[in-house]
Amino acid sequence: MADSSPFYVTTPIYYVNDRPHLGHVYTTMVADVVARYHRLKGDDTFFLTGVDEHAAKVSDTAIKKGMSAQAWADQNAAAFRDVFRRLEMTNDDFVRTSEQQHKDRVTRYVRALLDSGDVYQGEYEGWYDAGQEEYVTDNVAVQNNYKSEVNGKPLVRRTENNYFFKLASYREPLLSFYENRDRQGTPFVRPEARQNEIVNRIKEMEDVPISRTGSGGWGVPVPGDPEQTIYVWIDALFNYLTYVDTDDRRKYWQAGAVHFIAKDILWFHAAIWPALLLALRKCDGYEWVNLPKQVYSHSYWISASGEKMSKSLGNFLDPEAINDYVNEFGLDALRYFLATRGPLGVSDSAFSPDLFVEVYNTDLANTFGNSCSRVANMIGRYFGGKLPEPLPEGNEDFVRSQVSDWVSQYARHFEMLDLGRAGETGLLAVREVDAYIEKTQPFRLAKEEGQMAAVGTVLYNCAEALRIASVLLWPFIPNACEEFWRRIGSDQYREALADKGTGDYRKWVAWGKLAPGRLIDTGKPLFPRYRLESP
Ligand code: MSP
Repeated sequence: MADSSPFYVTTPIYYVNDRPHLGHVYTTMVADVVARYHRLKGDDTFFLTGVDEHAAKVSDTAIKKGMSAQAWADQNAAAFRDVFRRLEMTNDDFVRTSEQQHKDRVTRYVRALLDSGDVYQGEYEGWYDAGQEEYVTDNVAVQNNYKSEVNGKPLVRRTENNYFFKLASYREPLLSFYENRDRQGTPFVRPEARQNEIVNRIKEMEDVPISRTGSGGWGVPVPGDPEQTIYVWIDALFNYLTYVDTDDRRKYWQAGAVHFIAKDILWFHAAIWPALLLALRKCDGYEWVNLPKQVYSHSYWISASGEKMSKSLGNFLDPEAINDYVNEFGLDALRYFLATRGPLGVSDSAFSPDLFVEVYNTDLANTFGNSCSRVANMIGRYFGGKLPEPLPEGNEDFVRSQVSDWVSQYARHFEMLDLGRAGETGLLAVREVDAYIEKTQPFRLAKEEGQMAAVGTVLYNCAEALRIASVLLWPFIPNACEEFWRRIGSDQYREALADKGTGDYRKWVAWGKLAPGRLIDTGKPLFPRYRLESP
């Protein structure tokens, strides 16, 4: 499409040492919903997810297992790729930091930073969180009683001879970058409540080591000093750039990346990453490197008893458990629940199976699914399954102008990355259809003499409004929406959307797209009501 603008969305790249769990699936799912919305909107969208392989944990575990680090990483990277594929994530590429092209580009960037003097050799001593593979500041160490903020294990005092990044010299540039973004009304860190703590920390930030020794050859060597390996976090952050640093993909970087992450890794993304980019763009040949559009830092899924889901805590929803949900309720139901009820804001969300069932029944079975069945059934009963022709003057009681309200609200919520409200707007449209049926009573009208044309108009309007609602709901429940389009004889969206970049939903939410006379396929309920078995 001529006027399609590039849009770039990413997820963290996940440590390949862990098995995928609900937390990883969540961030990738959120990014997927956002990517689908942008494709629907006609944007030239690039969605990146993947795995972070060069952690010391990977080579340590591989040694214990008697495998090479690469073989162990291959095995686990495949597990992530499989889960994402099974969950129908629409990522355009999959990062593996052990890929040669990534390593080559990281080497080039670090060489440029060495040449410019922003990376230098020195000695470092500090408190190290081995689980997170990061040093924490003395303040943070004291605050947390010398234990890891993430897994509670004791911090370790470590001294290293390293290469350092001149982070401290980016205090002022970063602070003015933050101010500029605020002034433009597009704060860099969202939700905004998280930005303050970062800004305060930037004021005190010191240079950071960006290399380590003794990695046994696992990782990217520091150019010119093969004894030292580029610190896994620096290697990992660069993925966002290395995977689009090609002639045909650079436009995505230029558009300004939207990075979805959780609060555990905000500092890296909100301070170190933009500082590295500021440093890089001062180097010859990297003037094109701009800063991301946004870092969106969500909260955690926690267990009902309040713990963060993670492998070390042993309470995660693993791939099998995720599969069970998909088998029982369908993939769309899992997508919908995670995207609309997840911890996108500043509070954690407890994963509750009861809430899952309640949301499934209320929103999907009793609202969207039920409304689709009800309208199709009436068309079957009163019109032999053929979509009736609306009376030309018969539209006024169904407020067509509402459609443009829904659409603009929906777009506003998506632009704010408020997926809960965006999904709710799609449902609101469905509820309006239900209210319209209650008001016009087509089932009663059908019993009256000479009212079939009026009944036909009501049902046409319902089908058309549901079609529009389903366009809005598509990023959340794509399979059910596509099935509904097939049933109401509207294959064209499926074709339009399959060919990414040609979506432009504004075209599809125009009124009157459904062709009267088409045979409607009633089909089984899209979301059968779920009944808990009584004890
Ligand atoms: N490898 C680093 C990231 C490098 S990005 C340049 C890393 N990996 S991780 O495997 O630990 O993944 C952390 C991310 O997984 C979080 O930022 C979040 O996106 C997701 N989640 C992990 N547990 C989660 C929850 N319990 N709840 C929500 N998201 C969670 O850090």
